[in-house]
Amino acid sequence: MPRIGDSAPEFKAVTTQGEINFPADYKGSWVILFSHPADFTPVCTSEFMTFASMEQQFAEANCKLVGLSVDGLYSHIAWLRTIKEKIEYKGMKDVEVKFPLIEDITMEVANKYGMIQPGEATTKAVRAVFYIDPKGIIRTIIYYPLSLGRNFDELYRVLIALQAADEFSVAMPADWRPGDDVIIPTAGSCGTAKERMESKEEDVTCHDWFFCTKKLDKEKVLKALLKK
Ligand code: BEZ
Repeated sequence: MPRIGDSAPEFKAVTTQGEINFPADYKGSWVILFSHPADFTPVCTSEFMTFASMEQQFAEANCKLVGLSVDGLYSHIAWLRTIKEKIEYKGMKDVEVKFPLIEDITMEVANKYGMIQPGEATTKAVRAVFYIDPKGIIRTIIYYPLSLGRNFDELYRVLIALQAADEFSVAMPADWRPGDDVIIPTAGSCGTAKERMESKEEDVTCHDWFFCTKKLDKEKVLKALLKK
């Protein structure tokens, strides 16, 4: 089962947008590989409509989306067509899913990524989310069960937080959003504990020797990460 920090397992697959060679085709971009339990099911439909509506927002953060379920290609195509032509939900309608959806009837990819979790279901993938960075390294993994749709604002927040942590060499505190203070690296890489506590550096607050934060402007974060 792949873990955070591992290279994303490689596979070739057929998708609704043609064949893909993963993760090689995505080198240089962030990519979110996510699974859903089944086509033509309500929670998954609400998720796909939400994710497809946010695709441009993810693209502006240099992040591509790739879906997967253990259904076949013709099921995927029929389901996505139904979503576009018939489903109106929470103000979303005429929603076209433009990102690739992998067919995985053999469950080869789902098994490779640990998306089949037998305690939950043996014949369906759980709702897994893998964040893979531009070098092909898995940076975050999130799992939801079959009965709970994902929070896509949180999925976007995680992407921006990962990118900002890399860009500014900082860590992100609980519930961090752009504009909130960030955590500066712990003592050792940045002076002794005493030096840190006594630091007069502008915008730095030390709550104790091991816990220092600093301001990071929202505009600076968004300018560095988002291309419009
Ligand atoms: C759903 O997406 O609605 C769903 C899928 C599999 C099991 C339960 C719910």
